[in-house]
Amino acid sequence: MRIGIIGTGNIGGSLVRHLSRASHDVKVANSRGPETIEADLLTHGARAVTAAEAAQDVQVLILSVPLGAIPHLADIVRTLPESATVIDTSNYYPQRDGEGFLPEGTVESVWVTEQLGRPVVKAWNSIGASPLAEKGRPAGTEGRVALPVAADREEDRTRAHALVDATGFDPYDAGPLAESWRQQPGTPCYGTDLTLGELPQALATADAEHAPRRRDIYVDAAAERLGSGISPDADWGVALARLLFR
Ligand SMILES: NC(=O)c1ccc[n+]([C@@H]2O[C@H](COP(=O)([O-])OP(=O)(O)OC[C@H]3O[C@@H](n4cnc5c(N)ncnc54)[C@H](OP(=O)(O)O)[C@@H]3O)[C@@H](O)[C@H]2O)c1
Repeated sequence: MRIGIIGTGNIGGSLVRHLSRASHDVKVANSRGPETIEADLLTHGARAVTAAEAAQDVQVLILSVPLGAIPHLADIVRTLPESATVIDTSNYYPQRDGEGFLPEGTVESVWVTEQLGRPVVKAWNSIGASPLAEKGRPAGTEGRVALPVAADREEDRTRAHALVDATGFDPYDAGPLAESWRQQPGTPCYGTDLTLGELPQALATADAEHAPRRRDIYVDAAAERLGSGISPDADWGVALARLLFR
């Protein structure tokens, strides 16, 4: 597929690596310009471009930026044809994005569609940066991690499933965007690296009322570790998410 990726951080960078290694035609952009994109991201044929160029002549545009940057990309997204698929990896963290930036109870991806004026897919938001980089496995591998994909349009869903699979994870149809609160921070599928057998129940038992508080407890616990000079590793993060969110 012809893919543009905006955002080369923890998540966007891994997506560039995985998808270009899987022989997709990948263009990649950040906020500072193509000359600032690290050479190692381009090893498998991805090309560094401006953010506007990342949206030109692509079938899929992946946005992997902090939630607060989404509105700034609306003009670029508007240049896409209706048939293109936009996939958003973002999550809302008040600690990073600002208290009250999203009103309580807002479904994050629905807010994103309102900002961009078009449908999006929510995918890759529920896995941590290290597991995304390291836990991808070929289809059929026992214990392969599964990721929820929420979308409103069938063609978008089909493309996103193919790309999640190409990054090494089992895609799972998590329903329409209105239901994507079930894969937001603090829910049972979030950061818990579940399999295809475990994911449906995790989505079904998500608790909208308690998820934000559980998200904040997780952030506080990670900050406490960092503040005491201990850098929690990925296994610690998954173990804590399983305790708090499931
Ligand atoms: N980190 C995780 O474990 C994780 C897991 C799942 C989902 N997510 C979500 O995925 C999104 C990305 O997270 P991340 O950790 O990868 O973020 P990150 O490491 O901070 O990277 C953000 C990227 O977005 C780019 N960016 C910001 N504003 C931009 C703009 N206006 N135009 C173009 N590019 C812009 C930045 O460009 P520069 O490089 O030029 O600054 C950077 O490359 C967030 O919404 C996050 O909540 C994160």
